[in-house]
Amino acid sequence: RSIYILNGPNLNLLGLREPEIYGAQTLEDVRHMCETAASSHGMEIVFRQSNAEHDLIDWVHEARVQAAGIVINPAAYTHTSIALLDALKACDCPVIEVHISNIHKRESFRHHSYVSARADAVIAGCGVEGYVLALQRMASLCGGA
Ligand code: DQA
Repeated sequence: RSIYILNGPNLNLLGLREPEIYGAQTLEDVRHMCETAASSHGMEIVFRQSNAEHDLIDWVHEARVQAAGIVINPAAYTHTSIALLDALKACDCPVIEVHISNIHKRESFRHHSYVSARADAVIAGCGVEGYVLALQRMASLCGGA
């Protein structure tokens, strides 16, 4: 069973969008980093991005039956989506929330995350390296699954 890595709205523009906050690497770069990190831990990944809340919810439902763990950067839905929280609450597998930026250092509307109420770990402010750290932690939580 694989680790699902789900990315929310506007992350398709990574590398182009506010690079002073999110860095110069693209989502394709992040996918490659994740593939390398996952294989070094003997894990496989499913890596997806959508701008649509319902896609993310459907993918969490899919992960509920398919995944050994979920790494999710819900992007702006972090701060708005009770629906995404409820979908994650329906899952039994480990959930790690990742933010590229340190959301606590930014505007106050970014300080609250609905998703954190279900996350086993939260990584924020480590740049795109946060995804690699999340996979490292996932390997410990899943026993290298
Ligand atoms: C983000 C932080 C969110 O507040 C923002 O809406 C994003 C990206 C991050 O990775 O730092 O789109 O989740």
